[in-house]
Amino acid sequence: MPAIAIIGAQWGDEGKGKIVDMLAEKANVVVRFSGGNNAGHTVVNSQGEFRMHLIPSGIFYSAVICLIGSGVVIDPASLLEEIDTLKQKNIDLRNMFISDRAHVIMPYHILLDGLEEKARGKGAIGTTLKGIGPAFVDKTSRSGIRMCDLLNKEVLQKRLPPLVEQKNNLLTKLYDSTPLSFDDIFKNCCEWGEKLAPYVREVDLLIKEALDRREFILLEGAQGTMLDLDIGTYPFVTSAAVGGVSPTMGLPQTKMDGIIGIFKAYTTRVGGGPMPTELKDENGDLIRDRAHEYGTTTGRPRRCGWFDAVVGRYSTLANGFTGAAITRFDILDVFSSIKICTAYKVGERVYSRPPADFSILEECEPIYEELSGWECSTNDIRRFQDLPSAAQTYLKRIEELIECPISIISVGPSREQTIMVRPIP
Ligand code: GDP
Ligand code: IMO
Ligand code: MG
Repeated sequence: MPAIAIIGAQWGDEGKGKIVDMLAEKANVVVRFSGGNNAGHTVVNSQGEFRMHLIPSGIFYSAVICLIGSGVVIDPASLLEEIDTLKQKNIDLRNMFISDRAHVIMPYHILLDGLEEKARGKGAIGTTLKGIGPAFVDKTSRSGIRMCDLLNKEVLQKRLPPLVEQKNNLLTKLYDSTPLSFDDIFKNCCEWGEKLAPYVREVDLLIKEALDRREFILLEGAQGTMLDLDIGTYPFVTSAAVGGVSPTMGLPQTKMDGIIGIFKAYTTRVGGGPMPTELKDENGDLIRDRAHEYGTTTGRPRRCGWFDAVVGRYSTLANGFTGAAITRFDILDVFSSIKICTAYKVGERVYSRPPADFSILEECEPIYEELSGWECSTNDIRRFQDLPSAAQTYLKRIEELIECPISIISVGPSREQTIMVRPIP
């Protein structure tokens, strides 16, 4: 059986949660493998509406094993809150496990995220202020605390004091802020360790065992390709890889059978940084209002614009998508005409892929192609051939431009509101 990854193709919030919840029906294992609680994945199903931040969106099937891999940074307080919320709604968490190698977002990471953002002034990234960047910095500089450390008081006693001292130096001397108490942090860590211990496992081994049993593994990506640390719109990105499924989590690249790119039928972005197709007019407002485009994690209004096929094609190339899911298609139902950005221009120069230099990308003007809208509801359509012909034309044009076959079209937030164009797996 296959291992398939679900990856955001734009700037996040493409509807990954919905697609994972839908595909997880056939899965044995669902793994969150990157990011942290900066992610907010909305799931709407017969059990209710849920906002997932760390727990995989496959959790609504009690037989599915849900794993949080070593590439995820974990804020224990946020995870415990998510566990409680799900328990209150009678969701079964007996099959949810967290990697012993996953790094922990510590209280000082959250403080530093806020202080660093403030210090960036007008150049602020617009982070989610969840401590993601500082936690990944400590991971790469080998100063991180991992889940396995939370279970070992001796290790904490040894490793924490110099780390807290170093962070307190930063807080007081660089940012003129108040220091944190070692005792409080140590106490928090011990409590988190006790509460989370039942969930901590060698997740890489669980993945290997599932592969040996030839089970269907679904990998739930977080964020979107344009927020990837390497290939995104640096420096307005998150601090992690978005697409790369690391072999260290127990799933070698050779075991991957497919990578599905999730694309909204238009574009959104939350936070700072260039977004060539952003609409600051009534069309942008109409998309935001119809789609209620406000951040799942922070509640911030999302910036809205037409579909950017330059980003789409770049994303397919960078990730090697084997199929695409086009989500929120129904949001476009009311427009009489719809634009697609096919290239950018700055003066006379035309760009067919996003330039690395963000100051150039900021100057980029979209070159649009205009297509007719269909002006009727698609919410209840379940087969491609039943879509209005203008809708079919729009989708075929997107498929051509992003150079990736469309496998799924999503016409509403719930599981059922889906058109399967090609089977997965
Ligand atoms: P994620 O971070 O990629 O999981 O996406 P978010 O959950 O942050 O944002 C996607 C939003 O779109 C959520 O509110 C979903 O319920 C909603 N959604 C997903 N697919 C569709 C769709 O096809 N149509 C509509 N109208 N809403 C959708
Ligand atoms: P999901 O998984 C949309 C954005 C933030 C900010 C930048 C850096 O729901 O698609 P960070 O807190 O990661 O340091 O912020 O990345 N960002 C997201 N935008 N969806 C997300 O996740 C995001 N996760 C981070 O808004 O611009
Ligand atoms: Mg989201």
